[in-house]
Amino acid sequence: MTDTVGAYRTAVNPLRCDVIEELDWPSSYTGAEGAYVTADGDQRYLDMIAEFGAAVLGHRHPRVVRALSDALHGGSPFIVPIGVPALAGELAQRLCELAGGRIERAYFCTGGSEAVENAMKFAVAASGGRSEFVSFEGGYHGLTPGPLALAGHDYWRTPLPGWSPPGRHRVPFGDVAAVERVLAGREVAAVLVEPVQGIGGARPWPDDALRSLAERCAAHGTLLICDEVLTGLGRTGSWFAFQQAGIDPDIVVTSKALSGGVVPVAAVLMSRAVHESVYASPAAATVHSSTFEGHLLGMAAGLAVLEVLAEQDLLARAASLGERLRSGLEELKGARAVTGVRGRGLLLAFQVAGIDAPDDPDGAGTCMDLLMSRGVLVYQAAHDPTWLKLTPPLTLTDAQADEFLGAVRDSLADLSAYHED
Ligand SMILES: Cc1ncc(COP(=O)(O)O)c(C=O)c1O
Repeated sequence: MTDTVGAYRTAVNPLRCDVIEELDWPSSYTGAEGAYVTADGDQRYLDMIAEFGAAVLGHRHPRVVRALSDALHGGSPFIVPIGVPALAGELAQRLCELAGGRIERAYFCTGGSEAVENAMKFAVAASGGRSEFVSFEGGYHGLTPGPLALAGHDYWRTPLPGWSPPGRHRVPFGDVAAVERVLAGREVAAVLVEPVQGIGGARPWPDDALRSLAERCAAHGTLLICDEVLTGLGRTGSWFAFQQAGIDPDIVVTSKALSGGVVPVAAVLMSRAVHESVYASPAAATVHSSTFEGHLLGMAAGLAVLEVLAEQDLLARAASLGERLRSGLEELKGARAVTGVRGRGLLLAFQVAGIDAPDDPDGAGTCMDLLMSRGVLVYQAAHDPTWLKLTPPLTLTDAQADEFLGAVRDSLADLSAYHED
């Protein structure tokens, strides 16, 4: 049998293996079904991470598995060099309907970073060649060069110290006046915003601030790109999180939930005007493309996920279950070590006080380990590891939500012993 970890250590990333070993985290997964994963033999975990939020229907949802099996065994090629890929038009139409407003076209690719990279290219074209961008502290848009330059935290530039492409402006989270100052003095192609920051720790933009951001962009001829790689397709209780503020962005990027995490796929959704700035004439009809664009498996999974989300009314479920979890966590505030709860729908985070200093992430880290020892997986928000982040499947049951809350309660009780030592 292959030594999964040994091979990974040899040929992929030895340091990652060292860290996992030192922290005594599970390393080798053998099962994933519904809201649970199994690792290192028979250790079962309630998975409140759910593939970084991609497993929106839980692991191996039968409808998605069936759609993929049909596509695998069906007649169409997976990639279509001459002609149009099967199912891509249907999925694009559906996504554009769901996004609404001015969104009329979709471009498909294979992951969040690539989608943001593409959105930046479309924005430069649509703004008549402007090349500057604004993004926000705490934001995260991926790690290929385009999105990396817009990261809201310097950690991600560790391998490239001092690397900073010109014309990239990072402004404080939620500070529309600061955006206005940049837009007034520069030729900015687009502002990139996560309506609810994910890696920033489930931090939502206030609706009125998002509306005034959209207004300022429109006033300066700057495009607004909503990065919904994590929030898109139901997680926050609406199809897209921007819809809760009633804004009408030029470009929307979405990925994780699109295939339920089963196939790497992403979509750049955009207005007709943005699209036509790239595909400007018949001679330029294929000027932007990629080998895996519209890959059959991604399209099949996407259509199945959208059907299940709608049929099972999982957007409403995300909202109501989010409230149940939020109020359960709120009850643990105060005497316990929980110092904050925030987020929207099923993108939530709770903050845990440090053991010796209130803002030390060791409290959250210890709480994460205590939860793991009780068979529950959560993760620390990379940009502020005092927050523990939750991105569970939208199919989580009430009983599973209560199982999670019970484990948090018990872990916090254990943690209080550390605080008292
Ligand atoms: C908001 C947001 N944008 C972009 C990305 C990058 O996506 P990927 O990791 O698929 O490249 C992520 C990934 O977590 C994300 O959360």
